[in-house]
Amino acid sequence: MTQSEIGLIGLGTMGAMLALNIAEKGFPIAVWNRTTEVTHRFAQSAGDLAPRITPTDTLKDLVAALKPPRAIILMVPAGKAVDDQIAALTPLLDAGDMIIDAGNANFRDTNRRAKNASHGGPRFLGIGVSGGEEGARHGPSIMGGGRLEDWNRVSHILEAIAAKYHGTPCATLMGEAGAGHFVKAVHNGIEYADMQMIAEVYGVMRDGMAMPAPAISAVLEGWNKGPLQSYLIEISAAVTAVTDAKTGQPIVDIILDRAGQKGTGRWTVIEAQHLSAPIPVIEAAVMARNTSARLDERIKGEAHFGAAPQALPAGTLTIDDLESAMIAGKILCYAQGFALITAASGEFGWSLPLPEIAKVWREGCIIRSSMLNDMATALAEDPGRNLMLAPFFADHLETSHNALRKVVAHAALSGLPVPALAAGLAWFDMMRTQRSTANMIQAQRDFFGAHGFERTDGGSDHHGPWALQGGQA
Ligand code: 6PG
Repeated sequence: MTQSEIGLIGLGTMGAMLALNIAEKGFPIAVWNRTTEVTHRFAQSAGDLAPRITPTDTLKDLVAALKPPRAIILMVPAGKAVDDQIAALTPLLDAGDMIIDAGNANFRDTNRRAKNASHGGPRFLGIGVSGGEEGARHGPSIMGGGRLEDWNRVSHILEAIAAKYHGTPCATLMGEAGAGHFVKAVHNGIEYADMQMIAEVYGVMRDGMAMPAPAISAVLEGWNKGPLQSYLIEISAAVTAVTDAKTGQPIVDIILDRAGQKGTGRWTVIEAQHLSAPIPVIEAAVMARNTSARLDERIKGEAHFGAAPQALPAGTLTIDDLESAMIAGKILCYAQGFALITAASGEFGWSLPLPEIAKVWREGCIIRSSMLNDMATALAEDPGRNLMLAPFFADHLETSHNALRKVVAHAALSGLPVPALAAGLAWFDMMRTQRSTANMIQAQRDFFGAHGFERTDGGSDHHGPWALQGGQA
């Protein structure tokens, strides 16, 4: 029997699709799943690709089916399952064999696993894979983390299965150890924010402008032909166009408004806090998901305070205002996301390649959009500059930030919650204000804790004469 080029463990939806993608690109693959029946059912249903797929019943069989030095992809749930799988595989592998975790791992776990690998375990790569089921099958975006020599051993396979942007594979090594999974977490944070901003303008149209779902769909479809062109706008247009067979209602209208999450957006926010990197749009998006989940409390809130009157007075906002507000919100969100990546790069000793990250997100992943190509160009010009100051995006913001203000203000007056857009606007206003209000914070800190302050006319560690007022200075 000819040995397979690569192995894959975990034939859930994503693993199965990835295995078919690998086989389709011409690489013989050996697969194993905890339930043997699943493995054989998968191989039998692989059609034309079946000859390139070797189903195996035990981990030992899987290892024996692979060409040394071996490479095995794990597509199992993040967390303990990955550690268990590594522990089970390690005694069966030779020095130089490699485990590739392609799940949504927390990058800190990937750092730990990479460290263990450097202490004599099998080699280890952590790759963030984005694109859902469709992406896994026909071309995901791949964000790699690990050693260059290990990446180079499998990069021909990863590049072959990845999405292509005008022929360029969306698969890049981001840096050592957890770098790939960190970039994937930021991707997911942005994913949450993009989704939330769309949900907010959807809410303004639905509740503020009394637009039915099909009309909203038409608006989104139009936006998808302009600067907002993106996969998430495209699917939002698609979902608002669909009718529920049971009720004849638009299906979005019968979907319960309680959002789920697996936690990657939360990880992004936690890491941003550790790094003191402001990502308020993403934070607002995570907050909104958490608030949506508290349906019982929201019911009580409405019973107590009454629902806010949500209809916008006629003519206050136009569809063009909403589109411009979305453009501004999106630029601000990505500026924050890339600044977070810059902060992580410094803190963790990575040299995260900002333009390459924007490039790898242009196709295959959930946040793919035409704007990412312009971001890649702007970041290549000057990776150290805040994206909102890059001329292309600064021009866009010049023409769109007033619409963002208008949308946030009118939404607030009508009781329409737009937390992500509002967070973007507040951050924008802070970022364009030289003289902020933090002088008050410093005065307070010095009053109660003698923390000292800098003076505008020079010098640091001054104290105010608070002792006279009962302060601690
Ligand atoms: C992707 C997605 C994916 C994510 C799911 C669910 O890039 O393909 O980010 O990895 O896990 O979309 O995420 P939530 O359950 O947290 O919404």
